[in-house]
Amino acid sequence: MIITIDGPAGAGKSAVAQRLAQSLGFKHLDTGAMYRAVALAALEEGLDGDPDGLARRVGQMQVNFDWSSEPPRVQLDGRDVTDAIRTPRVTQATHLAASNPQVRAVLVEQQRRIAAAAGSLVTEGRDQGTVVFPTAEYKFYLDASLQERTRRRAAQWRDQGRAVTLDSLAAQLQRRDDRDRNRGVGPLTIPPGAIVIDTTPLTLQEVVELMRRTVQGQPRVSYTYRGEGTGWFQTLLWTAGRFLLQTIAILFFRVRITGRENIPRHGAALLATNHQSLLDPWLIGIALDRQIHYLARESLFRGGFVQYVFERTNAFPIRRGRADTTAIREAIARLQRGYLVNIFPEATRTVDGTIAPIAAGLAVIIHRARVPLIPVVIEGAFEAWPRGKAWPRLRSIRLHYGRPLPYAELVQLSPDALAVRLRSEMIRLQRQLGSPHAAASQQRFAADWQQGRRRAVAREITA
Ligand code: DC
Repeated sequence: MIITIDGPAGAGKSAVAQRLAQSLGFKHLDTGAMYRAVALAALEEGLDGDPDGLARRVGQMQVNFDWSSEPPRVQLDGRDVTDAIRTPRVTQATHLAASNPQVRAVLVEQQRRIAAAAGSLVTEGRDQGTVVFPTAEYKFYLDASLQERTRRRAAQWRDQGRAVTLDSLAAQLQRRDDRDRNRGVGPLTIPPGAIVIDTTPLTLQEVVELMRRTVQGQPRVSYTYRGEGTGWFQTLLWTAGRFLLQTIAILFFRVRITGRENIPRHGAALLATNHQSLLDPWLIGIALDRQIHYLARESLFRGGFVQYVFERTNAFPIRRGRADTTAIREAIARLQRGYLVNIFPEATRTVDGTIAPIAAGLAVIIHRARVPLIPVVIEGAFEAWPRGKAWPRLRSIRLHYGRPLPYAELVQLSPDALAVRLRSEMIRLQRQLGSPHAAASQQRFAADWQQGRRRAVAREITA
């Protein structure tokens, strides 16, 4: 099994990779050390102004890790360079190695060879999940605010007895990140399907624990999930289903869908949609290139053809009327695999078209899965098919995908505050869509707020 960890300098990759590897009994590869070793050779041998010479030299260079010590010691052509590659001079010169396409090609090959020999590996760097191991079983992307990364680096340096000034350290980190993000080969980006962890508020131990649980934890659910897009039947179901439902949506409901650009092309996000009618679950999915995962009534999972179809359209069961921790855990697990999951955070369909209080279980999902939240608002579906009516009527419907609320913003909010933030954002979008219910939604919200009924604004935490 390969686990990749990418991210900017100072996000804690090395320390995390080392401990995660230890706790899983895997080997740990610090690919930054390889680039550092090449940079050291460039400085020592006067190849810093000679990219072609450096590329030739790398072809004959031996960078080895001595796994018998912890952390592994680094050797360059048989010489121990573990300490020599950590000097500020080498750090500043790493771009000589990192931005040289031929050097990267050689090191990428070496990294793959090391992985093949190791079997199970935790590997960290900038391009591990994107270029070197695009099919890794688990990919993580660690990030942290520049301020926090500077603070950590400064503490490290002080421990080693080096003098530091925070400003110059921050500027150095920033310069290195910019170079890493903007180079033509193997740039630093979030790999598709990676689990993004903002480590700013977390301790080293918490980050490792979170990752270990992700790798080892099996969602405890009693039905089979085969993975998105696998199997011809699932693909057919989505393609044909989308086509059929799009036709119905346009013919009968003149459905207009906007804001699709707000849905990320890769990676996880939690969609939170206002619930107006039984049409909502499929309205959310028909206009997107990606498949959606969604919660469905448990009674639809009693076996037979219905369950067969539901499982293959990425539905998973939720028991209603009580806290369903299994469903919440499954939503988190799917987000951690990089999927798009939709929930209706008002829990039940609206009775009057207004937006109801938000279930605070939503915050549990966001905080555990660490994903952005995308508010989605549907308008007109309440008129088309209100509660209690057996058949829908012909009315026009609009759906808008709002701008993602980034996790970095959400992590600062308490569960109640997060629910309030989402509810006001949904009301704002409702107004933007020209909904006749927007004013009533706002009044209901204000009334809940003024009466100080925090629990009415943010429903009871259910997990
Ligand atoms: O992780 P580190 O600070 O030891 O990395 C040193 C440099 O090497 C860093 O500035 C970017 C580069 N690097 C890279 O380009 N690709 C990797 N896979 C790892 C590191």
